[in-house]
Amino acid sequence: MKTNPISIAPMMDYTDRHYRYFIRHISKEVLLYTEMVVSSTIKYASRDGRLHKYLGFSPEELPLCVQLGGSDPQELSDASIICQDYGYSEINLNVGCPSDRVQSGAFGACLMKTPELVAECLDAMRSKVSIPVSVKHRIGVDDIDSYEDLSNFIKVVSSVGVTKFIIHARKAWLKGLSPKENRTVPPIRYQDVYQIKKDFPHLNIEINGEVKTIESVSKHLKLVDGVMIGRAAYDDPWLLSNFDTEFYGSSTNPSKTREEVLEKMKGYPQRLQELGIAPHSFIRHMMGLYKGVKGARHYRTFMTEKIQQKITNGDFFDEIIATNLKYTQQ
Ligand SMILES: Cc1cc2nc3c(=O)[nH]c(=O)nc-3n(C[C@H](O)[C@H](O)[C@H](O)COP(=O)(O)O)c2cc1C
Repeated sequence: MKTNPISIAPMMDYTDRHYRYFIRHISKEVLLYTEMVVSSTIKYASRDGRLHKYLGFSPEELPLCVQLGGSDPQELSDASIICQDYGYSEINLNVGCPSDRVQSGAFGACLMKTPELVAECLDAMRSKVSIPVSVKHRIGVDDIDSYEDLSNFIKVVSSVGVTKFIIHARKAWLKGLSPKENRTVPPIRYQDVYQIKKDFPHLNIEINGEVKTIESVSKHLKLVDGVMIGRAAYDDPWLLSNFDTEFYGSSTNPSKTREEVLEKMKGYPQRLQELGIAPHSFIRHMMGLYKGVKGARHYRTFMTEKIQQKITNGDFFDEIIATNLKYTQQ
């Protein structure tokens, strides 16, 4: 199976449908992920008609992978069927999140300690859907952090037919470090991920962790099948502005300038209003658009004001396009 070489990481409270709609004006090709949705949430929401709140998305967001959290094979397989019916392109199981809330539900990164259960969950999910099912995990947790442990995890999980592994190249300490520290403190070990690709050449191995530039994406792609970018894609979305032409052979990128992106977002508040969603709820995701260029501070201040004013339509975009052009041309 040929997989998409670049993806934007699932990030709770960040990669919601509004961020994803916005980012599609910068790259149409990268694979996007939802925030993690817990399988029991899908179970209960399907009973009381609230599924759309958790699974709704705009067609423009495709290709789109839904990330599930859970450790009950039956519940995960039921959720997978619902997600496939919803129109998602892929399904991913979260075996990397170290938060206490997730640990108390016995899923996320602590599942790395029980590869057989992860295999059982993924087997149950795959058996009920025809779309690809993948797993996102760490290189290790707590004292289970040797290369042999990682290799054993991949061996056990791939034995049920899973072929796509997204590996956050840093272990997690489940006790003592906060989720944020678990994304910065344990050292990055890219070599372990490269070695997994050498030892399991038939599997699709995607690397994740601290990828911040187009150059590092190119470098990793020489050694593994895919690269997942998290924080850098959120903090500096324009980072993706050449990806479609650079990595996918597209003849053009979706927008040539940042102002073109703003222009394309003009109709979005109206659309949200029609969907019954607060029309200003997407603005916070656009804060990084001018990161590192002249006018960035002015842009952020202006956009913050619009959130506070709870705007109801996209008229304000004309003003920010005009003033920001002035800054960038100075
Ligand atoms: C705010 C935030 C929320 C996150 N939420 C999730 C999540 O829901 N599921 C998951 O698998 N990883 C989650 N992650 C981890 C990212 O997917 C990614 O693995 C991590 O940030 C490392 O990639 P990066 O260095 O490119 O940011 C989250 C990360 C951040 C910063």
